This record gives sequence, C-alpha cells and structure tokens, in this order.
Amino acid sequence: MDDVALAALFQKEFTWCRVIAGESVAIVTEPASPGSYLAASLASLASMGARPFQVMLPATPGTDDIPVVALGSGASTILADFPHVVELLGKCDLVIDLTLEGLVHSPETQTVLAGGARMLWIREPADALARLLPTADRVKRIDRSVELLGKAREMTVTSKAGTRFRANLEGALLTGSRGFCAERGRWAHWGQGLAAAYVKSLDVDGDIVLDVGDIVFPFNRYVESRTTFRFRRGFVEAIEGEGLDAALIRDYMERWRDENAYGISHVGWGLHERGLWHALSLYGNTSMGLDGRVFEGNFLFSTGPNHAAERQSRCHFDIPLRHCSIFLDGVPVVLEGVIVEPSIKRASQAPLR
Ligand SMILES: [Fe+2]
Repeated sequence: MDDVALAALFQKEFTWCRVIAGESVAIVTEPASPGSYLAASLASLASMGARPFQVMLPATPGTDDIPVVALGSGASTILADFPHVVELLGKCDLVIDLTLEGLVHSPETQTVLAGGARMLWIREPADALARLLPTADRVKRIDRSVELLGKAREMTVTSKAGTRFRANLEGALLTGSRGFCAERGRWAHWGQGLAAAYVKSLDVDGDIVLDVGDIVFPFNRYVESRTTFRFRRGFVEAIEGEGLDAALIRDYMERWRDENAYGISHVGWGLHERGLWHALSLYGNTSMGLDGRVFEGNFLFSTGPNHAAERQSRCHFDIPLRHCSIFLDGVPVVLEGVIVEPSIKRASQAPLR
C-alpha cells in the first residue's frame, strides 16, 4: 500500500478512536516496528490536528529464565526499565502501540490506562487493517453480545467433533472487543470484533475437542489432529490426543511451570464478518492472527491470565474453533458455527461482502 493510501487508512481508524485537534499522541516503537506504520500514524494524526510524537525504546530480551519461547504472549518488555516513560504515556490522550509483541499483557499497560490514556495496538498487515476496519453495525452486534453474556448464568458449547463444555458465567468480566478505543482508559487492537467473558467461577467442566482446522495461538498453527482439553473445576486436567498438536500444547504448557496456565480464561464468539479463517495460512507469523481470532461464528476459548479470577500467567492460549454450537442458559446463540440469535445476526449472513 502506498504512503498516501496508508495514511488515509490510518485516518479512518483514528476517526473511530475519536482523535480530535490538540490531543497528544505517543507512538511507541522499537527498532523493528514498521516504519511505514509510524509514518502513516504521524501524517494522519498531524493532519487531524493532533500532536503526535514517537517514543523509540530498545528491544531487550526478557530477563526471566523461563525456558520457553515467549513469542506471541502480548507482553512486550520494552517498558520494563522505563518507569518515567510509563508515567509520561499515562498522561497522553492516546498511545499507539507499534511494538511487534504488543503491550496488551505487559504490567505497565495497566498503569498507562489508569493514567487516563487510551491505547491502540496496530500490528496486522495493511490489507488486513483495511479489511477489518470497524463498522457501526458490527459495533452494535458486539455490544448486544456483551448484553446477552451479562444476562446469562451459563454458557454451554457442543460440537460434532465431541465438545461438551459448560461454564458458569456468574461474576464474569465481560468484554466487547470493537477494534477501536474512543474512551479514556480503554485498550483496543485494530481489527478486533468479538465478545468474551473472563470466567470467574470454578464451576467450569467438560471437554473441548479441537478439530482439524481449528487454530492454536500463539503457535499460529492450524490443528491437524483432534485434541481434547478436559476441564474439571475451572482447570485443564488433561490434554489428550495422539497427534503432534496435543504433544506441542502439553510441552509448551508444562514448561511454564505455572498452575495458573491451566485455568480457564475467556470464552466467547467471533463477530467479524470480514475476518477470514484462511488468512493465517497466508500471513503466517507476519500477523498476530486477528482474522483467526475474530471470524464470525467461531467459539473462542482461552487459558491462562484471567483478571476476573485474579489469576496471573504469561502462558496464554487463544483457541478459536469452527462449527461449534454455543448456548446461553440453553438458548442457542451460534449453531454449528453460524450465528442464529436474531439480535446479533446480520441481515445477510453471506461470509464476505
Ligand atoms: Fe486471549
């Protein structure tokens, strides 16, 4: 995408983020951040009358000695040694995160948001950013999904592959990821489009069966052999399967030596009608895999860090499944991967316009 087109695209997203004249905007970068995204941010923000500036920090390897490849955990360590920079970021109106690993799960992010700044992570390839821009209709369907989750006592999930799972939603922390941040203290990732509940209760039981074609993040890998997560009392008790997928998941989780890694984190569904299940096969590791996480009608579950249950962990799986049926208090919301709840259904269910 050429520079002018990219700046115009960024302006659309910043308009969703309600950037106004006079706002101070910090753009957090590391040496490997894409220069074209920095230039597009600076140009479009300046043309909107905001006051953007770049903060460049050195990318240093993490200091802990956990024998794990911690890529894709969304917990960049670039702010760890710069408390004065963290303080400065919290005083800005908007912080643009152009780090490759992302600051979403970094402890410093909570300080920045508590300071009042809103934060936007920009990470996907440019054509995905363009395709996944927010729409007013989708925002409504995401907000309505959060309302539905808020009224429900229990989510149950089934699939032909063998999933039989239930989670008590009482006390859950609900999030609607709309893909832009317009309010003070809000965090967003450009391209998101899903509803999720961070489960507080330990009343979570059953089997989630990953079928061929489901996706395991942060491996950025499609499942090639059926793999079963057995949940008992809110925690993964066993990961079973004869194939490579189960072996990789078990090895990665075990190496963190962290009980919390096995706890349920969030459960929910994708609402992005322009999210593409196949995108990851082309983008590979150039992307954080937003398409795969948000495509419409997926059942997305995750393990590890969970604010609602007050569990910290750096081992975090996001696993979107296709062809599942999701029920709230017995009422179907998604049937075999298709949204059926009338209040969150699109007028036309065609996969792409
Ligand atoms: Fe997650």
